[in-house]
Amino acid sequence: MSGVSLEIELSGIKLRNPFILASGFIDDDPSLLSRAWKAGFGALTTKSLTPKPREGYKPPIIAFTKAGYLNAVGLSNPGVDSLPRLLSKLPRESKVIVSIAGSTVDDFRYGAEKSNLDNVDIIELNLSCPHVKSMGMDIIHDISYSLDIIDAVVSTSDKPVYIKLGLTDTYLSLVSKALDKGVSGFTIMNTIKALAIDTASLKPILSNVYGGLSGPAIHPIAVRMVYEVYREYQVPIIGVGGVMDWEDVVEFIAAGASAVGVGSYLFLKPVESVKDLINDLMKFLEDNGYGNVVDLRGVAHKK
Ligand SMILES: Cc1cc2nc3c(=O)[nH]c(=O)nc-3n(C[C@H](O)[C@H](O)[C@H](O)COP(=O)(O)O)c2cc1C
Repeated sequence: MSGVSLEIELSGIKLRNPFILASGFIDDDPSLLSRAWKAGFGALTTKSLTPKPREGYKPPIIAFTKAGYLNAVGLSNPGVDSLPRLLSKLPRESKVIVSIAGSTVDDFRYGAEKSNLDNVDIIELNLSCPHVKSMGMDIIHDISYSLDIIDAVVSTSDKPVYIKLGLTDTYLSLVSKALDKGVSGFTIMNTIKALAIDTASLKPILSNVYGGLSGPAIHPIAVRMVYEVYREYQVPIIGVGGVMDWEDVVEFIAAGASAVGVGSYLFLKPVESVKDLINDLMKFLEDNGYGNVVDLRGVAHKK
């Protein structure tokens, strides 16, 4: 058995390893969440939950492009009141991040109140969905509005609050102000607004026209943002975006991420394949003389 430890801590919460199921890959099925926990993830993020259930957009909602995956699901979700049911099949020791979305301060406050359950470990505010009007990037582009939401959630909840960032020119300024408001960490990053056109019909493929780009194309952008946030603030960061193999994982952690989100990888492989990422990270650490994954964090800054 390997002597290398993959254990990490996120804002006082101990995780058995740094791999986190990214938001949006399991939405309304308690059995699938339980399967993901059994598969070996260190923590699971729920689909972003709004105060009321949302149906989302009509198909097509996903397009496969040469650069990655384009989705405009439209934040379809069963609503935050469904949280006890969603988490009902998870064992007590599982670690859960609840993602909250909304379009008003009260929406987020309500989400935070409803997430105040014993088996919820972290609240993640989705301020960066790129394809739903007034629910994502429209919020994060407005720093003072984002801070109002953060204020409301931090004062409502005792749980650590993380902000899911998207690509903006001002994200470092938001990070600094969010930390002053009591935010504990950041999930970097959401998908990036993009468009694909069908060459037969010459129309946009997605019913919503625009979608969010995920997968390998966004990975270097996410690594850049993780690197910059860590360099400035050394706060807990969950690096998400284009993790397809162990090299992407190692890059995120060396850039400063404490944990790594796994999303589009699951378009290609069953959830049990997280084991391959876990084993490959372990092997990298062993081969390079690291006794634990924490020692790899941020090493790219020391070179
Ligand atoms: C189909 C789909 C649904 C998603 N839903 C959410 C969501 O509800 N909330 C959220 O914060 N991010 C959502 N995301 C973004 C992912 O959590 C992740 O940030 C993004 O896909 C980049 O990671 P990846 O390249 O590993 O997929 C979604 C992504 C996809 C592809």
